[in-house]
Amino acid sequence: MIDNGTQPGINGENIPISCIVHPSRRLRGKFSVPGDKSISHRVAMLAGLASGTTTVRGFLKSEDCINTLKAMEALGARTFETEKGELRIQGTGGNFLEPAGPLDLGNSGTGLRLLSGLAAGQDMDVTLTGDDSLRSRPMKRIREPLTRMGATVTCTGPEETAPVFIHGGGLKGIDYELPVASAQVKSCLLLAGLFANGRTRVMEPAASRDHTEKLFETLGIELTIVGSTITLEGFGPSGPTLKAKDLAVPGDFSSAAFWLAAVAARSGSSVTIQNVGLNPRRVAMLDVLRQAGASVSVKVPRRQNDYVEPTGDITVKGSELKGFTLAGDMIPNLIDEIPVIAVLGALAKGKTVIKDAAELRVKEADRISCMANNLRVMGVQVEETPDGMEIEGGAAVNPSGGVRSYGDHRIAMAMAVLAQFSREPVVIHNVACVDTSYPGFWDDLKELGGHVE
Ligand code: S3P
Repeated sequence: MIDNGTQPGINGENIPISCIVHPSRRLRGKFSVPGDKSISHRVAMLAGLASGTTTVRGFLKSEDCINTLKAMEALGARTFETEKGELRIQGTGGNFLEPAGPLDLGNSGTGLRLLSGLAAGQDMDVTLTGDDSLRSRPMKRIREPLTRMGATVTCTGPEETAPVFIHGGGLKGIDYELPVASAQVKSCLLLAGLFANGRTRVMEPAASRDHTEKLFETLGIELTIVGSTITLEGFGPSGPTLKAKDLAVPGDFSSAAFWLAAVAARSGSSVTIQNVGLNPRRVAMLDVLRQAGASVSVKVPRRQNDYVEPTGDITVKGSELKGFTLAGDMIPNLIDEIPVIAVLGALAKGKTVIKDAAELRVKEADRISCMANNLRVMGVQVEETPDGMEIEGGAAVNPSGGVRSYGDHRIAMAMAVLAQFSREPVVIHNVACVDTSYPGFWDDLKELGGHVE
């Protein structure tokens, strides 16, 4: 196997890595999942901005977060790994270097959009780019507000996509009502707002994940949060003076979600995932599991240790599930779980409706149409709608062929979950993308009792 997501074919050509996932009878286990991706990106950026060295426990060493670390290094930060596997980030103290070339954020919208905010605060030229998927995703949503703050931002790809060129500095705070509930856009503006003169005020149409706000507070940056409005007093062009502080990253709820789903729909199965981040804006899938009739319990330790956000152990026991509905303000709080929640819908008896989730069409892939295609291949009755899908679940999972990841890590992992319930082994094509968020996924599946070739 060679190390670029492909394996050599008989004629030496590069073939994307596929795998065969076998159905399983019963899954059982107790383990922890790797660190939270959203928090790891933010830790990399803020530790890179601070002065001094931050030791990070539980940093997610996945492709996405490593790309963000590399970008921070190009801006002048230094990173080391300790013998214990902890990450050390030596910050720039806000004295960023102008990067010698484009910052390549690979597959990561979070990396690109948040770093654009940081770059917009600097009087230098920065170009941010990524892989084919990232270069097809909308960037007007950051171009517009950053331009209003005074940065020069040009989306040089077709239809306002990356590469994004930024010449920043001289920012002024603005009031901005987000057109979509997006933690990435909100965080981009808060990071830019650190370097602005005056007040930056961001209004959200629905509550999105608030890891940036939480980390700002941990590092001593004051915010005023009233309802859905977040206000930050800017520190001017030189930015805030931040002192490095050691940080521990909780397990990623979005990674735990695959096991919660795999177990929830199978009587006799059970799983406990330890030290999972329990930020209330990330765990709406627990409500969905309960709505579907699953047995879910959450144990929060009496004394929280040094994690940057609350954590706990989640236990799910399998049972027969019934169809459910996802809609409205809960969507941003389970947006990344929807591929595997669609799988849950396929396994639950009766109708499952997913709506108000049009944002899924501009994720790493169009997760509505790609998931609907894959579910159909697996013999599931599904109808795509403009902002979601309707699934008639509970019938036998009977694949008519192999399924595709579409280069999207969460689609690959969601299909590996559905394969557990299939009548026959399932080929999933192009699975190297799993490493963008969950290196170790296949090992954890085996640990639970699954079988993968
Ligand atoms: C993220 C925010 C969400 C989510 C993404 C990670 C973040 O995207 O889908 O995987 O870390 O801020 P949007 O903010 O675009 O909804």
